[in-house]
Formats: sequence, C-alpha cells, structure tokens
Amino acid sequence: MKETILSYDDLLEMLDSLLREPEEFWNTFYLDREKRVPFFANKPDENLVSYYERKLTDTKNVLELGCGPGRNAIYFAEKGAEVDAVDLSEESLRWAEERAEERGVAVNFIRSNIFELPIKNNTYDMVYDSGCFHHIAPHRRMQYIEMIQKALKPGGHFAITCFVQGGELGGSDITDWEVYRSRSLNGGLGFTEEKIRTIFKDFEEIEIRKMKDVGGDEEVFGVPALWTALFRKK
Ligand SMILES: C[S@@+](CC[C@H](N)C(=O)[O-])C[C@H]1O[C@@H](n2cnc3c(N)ncnc32)[C@H](O)[C@@H]1O
Repeated sequence: MKETILSYDDLLEMLDSLLREPEEFWNTFYLDREKRVPFFANKPDENLVSYYERKLTDTKNVLELGCGPGRNAIYFAEKGAEVDAVDLSEESLRWAEERAEERGVAVNFIRSNIFELPIKNNTYDMVYDSGCFHHIAPHRRMQYIEMIQKALKPGGHFAITCFVQGGELGGSDITDWEVYRSRSLNGGLGFTEEKIRTIFKDFEEIEIRKMKDVGGDEEVFGVPALWTALFRKK
C-alpha cells in the first residue's frame, strides 16, 4: 500500500516528499551558533514586547510554534506565562534549554513536528510563531490554521512574524503552485499584507504591520524585512 493515496493525510505526506526534509536541514543549520543569523540574538521580538506594553494580550498559557533557540519562549516565561515551545530540531532545543537555564526560567520545550503535536481543545491564550510559518509549505496551511483554532481558547490570540515578499532576509514571491513546480520554497515564502489578511481571514485582525527596525544595540529584536500580525480567535 506504500505510495497509495487513500486519505487526505496520505496526500499531504506525498506533497511533503516533494520538498526538503526539514529536520536534518534545521539540525545542521543550528550546529554553528556563531553564524551571523539575525534571529540568533537572544532577544524577544519587538512586536511581542509591544503587545505586553500595550496590554493587547492575555498570556497565561502560551504555545510557541517553531521556537528555535527559544528567545521568545523565554521572554513569555519571564513574563510569568506557562509555555509549551515546539520545534522539530533537537539541536535548536538543546540551545534553547541552555538559555532558559541560564535565565532561570522554566519552559516546556517539546521536540516535535508541529503537525504531529497532540493538541487539546481550547488550551492556550496565545499561539506565537516567529519565522516558522514562512517555512511551512502551502499544502499544510489549512492544517496549520485548524491547529491554531483548536489550540486557542475562545478570544485567545495568535501572533506571527513572517517574511516580507522580496525583503532583505529572503521572502520568495513565487506562487503556491510554483512551490511544487520548482519543488522548493526558495528559502522561505514571502507575504504581502493582503495575503496575510486573506490566509487568516477567519480570525479577527488586531494589527498587521512591518516589524520596527530597532538597530543592533536594543534589547529587542526588530528588522523591517518581517511582517508582524496579531489576531484574535472569534
Ligand atoms: C527561522 S527559525 C525561527 C526560530 C525562532 N522562532 C526564532 O525566531 O528565534 C524557524 C524554526 O522553525 C522550525 N520548524 C520549521 N518547520 C517546523 C515544523 N514543521 N515543526 C516544528 N518546527 C518547525 C525550525 O526547526 C526552526 O527552528
């Protein structure tokens, strides 16, 4: 029965197989911690800090998708949240755990593909994704949205940062169909404000804006090559 498509899951798996295998890629990516990668800086996103400053979100229970080396998960925990932070890369979570220990905070780091995560209904006040969604292939997008809807409590928030199309950090401007013709996300998909609004139309929009450019010395992370968006579950 191998390679026979009998279900929607089989179809998703077949489409996954056309693209890069993510676990090995990300484990290799994190081996050199000295690499000049903007998000390797151990600072929370400026938009996330601003949600707290403006009291836009209630964040007692947080789920972070694709947490990488943990900079935002650690910030949530320092703010008193209970945090489940998921990433498929063992290498990134090793780094994240070291950072959390140095800062003396507890985060529940979970090594898993986000699509294999068992999620209970109405569990989280906030689902946060900084830079994972633009590495998710278009055929997984519906499942991604369903997962967030399921994970959030009614009125809970979902926030995302993702590549600006053609921005300085990447952000390919190919169509969804082109992903499968070229068998690649070209380093990560880029988005327009309108595309983000359309994809997450079932949520109430609170704010979509470019990340602020904060320069290197600030205590927060901010580069204008990323969109930031905050939504609420209706
Ligand atoms: C650009 S990095 C961002 C890391 C972190 N959020 C940050 O901003 O510091 C994207 C992360 O998403 C993770 N990732 C990508 N696809 C994933 C998936 N399907 N399930 C879990 N994690 C995934 C990668 O391992 C990587 O750590």
